[in-house]
Amino acid sequence: MRYTKEDQRDITKLTKTHLKEDTSAKPAEVVDELRKILVFHEWRYYVLNDPLVSDFEYDSLYKKLEKLEADNPELITPESPTQRVSNDLTTSFNNVPHLIPMLSLANSYNAEDLNEFDTQIKKLINQKEEGDIEYCVEPKFDGGSIALIYTDDKLVRAATRGNGTNGEEVTVNARVIKSIPLTGNFSKKGLKTVELRGEVLIRKDIFDKMNKQREKDGQDVFANPRNTAAGGMRMKDPKEVAGRGLEAFIYQVGYAIDDKGKDVLAKMDTQFGSINYLSDLGFKVPTIEKKLCKNIGEVVKFVESWSAKREKYPYEIDGMVVKVNDFNLQKKCGATNHHPRWAIAYKFKAKQATAKLLAVEYQVGKVGAVTPVAKIEPTQLAGVTISSISMHNEDFITGKDIRLGDSVLIERAGDVIPYIVKSLPNLRDGSEQKIKFPTNCPSCQTVLTRQEKEAVWRCENPSCEAQVLQRLIHHVSKDAMDIDGFGKSYVERFFELGWVQNNADIYKLNYDAISQLEGFGERSASKLKKAIDAAKKNPIHRVLYSLSIHHFGRKASKLIAQEIKHVLELKDWTEENFTEIKDIGPVVTQNVIAYFQDPKNIQILENMEALGVNFNQTDEDRPLEIDEDAIFFGKTILFTGKLQKMGRKEAQQLATNAGAKNISAVSANLNILVAGEKAGSKLKKATALGTVQILTEDEFLKLIES
Ligand code: IVH
Repeated sequence: MRYTKEDQRDITKLTKTHLKEDTSAKPAEVVDELRKILVFHEWRYYVLNDPLVSDFEYDSLYKKLEKLEADNPELITPESPTQRVSNDLTTSFNNVPHLIPMLSLANSYNAEDLNEFDTQIKKLINQKEEGDIEYCVEPKFDGGSIALIYTDDKLVRAATRGNGTNGEEVTVNARVIKSIPLTGNFSKKGLKTVELRGEVLIRKDIFDKMNKQREKDGQDVFANPRNTAAGGMRMKDPKEVAGRGLEAFIYQVGYAIDDKGKDVLAKMDTQFGSINYLSDLGFKVPTIEKKLCKNIGEVVKFVESWSAKREKYPYEIDGMVVKVNDFNLQKKCGATNHHPRWAIAYKFKAKQATAKLLAVEYQVGKVGAVTPVAKIEPTQLAGVTISSISMHNEDFITGKDIRLGDSVLIERAGDVIPYIVKSLPNLRDGSEQKIKFPTNCPSCQTVLTRQEKEAVWRCENPSCEAQVLQRLIHHVSKDAMDIDGFGKSYVERFFELGWVQNNADIYKLNYDAISQLEGFGERSASKLKKAIDAAKKNPIHRVLYSLSIHHFGRKASKLIAQEIKHVLELKDWTEENFTEIKDIGPVVTQNVIAYFQDPKNIQILENMEALGVNFNQTDEDRPLEIDEDAIFFGKTILFTGKLQKMGRKEAQQLATNAGAKNISAVSANLNILVAGEKAGSKLKKATALGTVQILTEDEFLKLIES
């Protein structure tokens, strides 16, 4: 372990001291301590994904260090956490030779191929057929490969793969990736210079979020996480690289010499051991994702199990890599010019396919954005049948010269929504037609408009039926009023029947009539009533967000909800009221003002309130006073099993008040589990983890009361 339990306890203590007060110690000492603290917390956060302090606390310590360094510039060293991001722009990347070539991997696709590989290995090392070879199996990460050189324990160079012999030097960019340590204690093992190989990646959910934001901002969307990560490493401005949320997994020691220049790679003994060694030095490496397999039979089982769970894995992987575990045997096997003979990639099923574009439909969103949707021949892609794919906006179509009747290359990367990579003009037969973006709204025929800096065409008729329907769907959705069981199909049905035309109508539905509908019945009608009645009590930030005001997102809704006692106060709000709130921009301000100046909207809101929807600020809306002395400050908590003295919601609220964050699953991130009666699998899992504090309901209450 990079840090022993005692180390961790000591640094945590030291963290608290520095958070509380400024010491009177010499700047040089304080700087040293702060660096030690920050490097530790970066490791907890970026390598283990298990932070011990809040972002706020980390930032305040970081700022302290920055200030001290600014006052005492002679204390700055390149390895300081503050020195990760450089201010200089790169004009062009230098071409640099790798210490040893970065080879490719041969591919395999099934058990037969792997058995054949095993047979070859045995031949190469003159071993009998019956004997077993040990293999280390790891994910084949799908990002941009990188080679890191550490000399005298310091990161001195990072390079991309390039052509395998030479790569581009991207040290300034690698330095901003916080899972890449700027220092590593290699000298302890007698290593002078090492070259490590790894992959720069972006987590799939971060990629999705980033693309959604780009689409909102009218920027081009990225094709897939791989290009985003690989391209990220080649950006000119390290500050921009820092904003991309990149991470690096290290999976290989490629080269190692001691201070006499002697090759000491074999000192690491095994692939499995070398990765664990890197983990101990603070690198992010495959942990539970790798396995030491006793023989090729185990390898086959392991890679097949990963093929089934790859979609759920947070990063893109396109296969697994099978490596002879013993470094001495690896040496015996050798390499071709193209790939090592001791390793092979096992590739998962393709996630790209080609399909014919049959038609384009245009969908109108809740604030009028018109999105073109490609209707393609139903096509199998990584186990799912796909027949529609969003094409985002007009520029996406023209930029890729996509035509009706074209064959298009489609891709589905992990959980990422399917995407058209490109059209395939070589396969055209002349019958293809250019796609003409409509000039009028497909729903209400209003002439569409496009703002100068925006990529989208918009229907600006607020009473456009398609928009009204989308707004109703949004209103009941999980993020907004969260009306349980009230899905899109219900909204569409009630809308067609003319029962709901605006948000207020939802709260005066006739449940008798609903129970008569085909497919409904008294039970489902009364279930719906219960869910709607429950939603009436929602905090007002949900009400605000449910209104579909353009650019007025969840975060802004929460910020405004903190500032008002009643929803309709916003009728009297002027620009000044909004500008006083940090993080509320001028666009949101104008849109909210316009909304609350429109008498039609006010009428609907008044109806909602009259029908029982809560418009008064609730506890949940009020700003949380952050109390660092709170008993569960900074801890994550999970309730499981039946509680005797309170409801689940109530317990969660108590925990929140005591500084905890409620999470929904048992993972390495969980700190506390409160186990009620008949607690089942979650309790088992948490106990097995060994790191979770397990409390009974009474113990929990006692702690709260204390
Ligand atoms: S080992 C000499 N291990 O796959 C050893 N490569 O097709 C060769 N890759 O360029 C590499 N995950 O970018 C290795 N666990 C892993 C890997 C991995 C991804 C990439 C790497 C390499 C390419 C080879």
